[in-house]
Amino acid sequence: VYRIAIFASGEGSNFQALAERANAGELGGAEIALLVCDKPSAPVVQRAERLGVQAHLFKPKDYDSREAYEREIVHKLEEHRVDLVVLAGYMRLLTPVIVDKYRGRLINIHPSLLPAFPGKDAIGQALAYGVKVSGVTVHFVDEGMDTGPIIAQKALPIVSGETVDSLAQAIHAIERELYPQVVSWFAKGLVQLDGRQVTVSNP
Ligand code: GAR
Repeated sequence: VYRIAIFASGEGSNFQALAERANAGELGGAEIALLVCDKPSAPVVQRAERLGVQAHLFKPKDYDSREAYEREIVHKLEEHRVDLVVLAGYMRLLTPVIVDKYRGRLINIHPSLLPAFPGKDAIGQALAYGVKVSGVTVHFVDEGMDTGPIIAQKALPIVSGETVDSLAQAIHAIERELYPQVVSWFAKGLVQLDGRQVTVSNP
């Protein structure tokens, strides 16, 4: 079985979309082995319980450094023999402890058409800038902030009268479809990475 770890810090709507597909056998045969969460009070923790996924909480404050914190997480990932690490609203920049170990097997979803609007509050940034098209990007994670090779993107027109709430809703609806699709490509071994070029064979 292809084994996935999801990292999340917040609401967990992407976590839920992935776990529901996995439970229905619709994630290319992959299973969600565990949730890694850095915030004990995050709603995603309850969602994991409801969906039958083991949740592991790691509090950065309990460790001397970000590296020590991530080394503990890596031990847990190794215990679960994780094939793919999926960041889904994990609001923390990773260090080389995880990035180097899981390079090419570590992906993120971001609520803009990268390289536009990296970092926090991408939806608010796009609205404030006044762009007429935004969207969603799934990309490999490297050491930068939302800079890794792009795997898939979906664009979304911004309508007149758009608000942060309406745009966030439209973005989340795209994310719920796009992320499970991309993860199932990985589970089926369809994704190749060569430098910055990502190719997907017969999706
Ligand atoms: C998602 O929209 C995701 O794209 C975004 O956080 C949200 C998490 O929602 N990620 C980032 O902004 C990463 N820089 P969720 O907890 O409901 O899945």
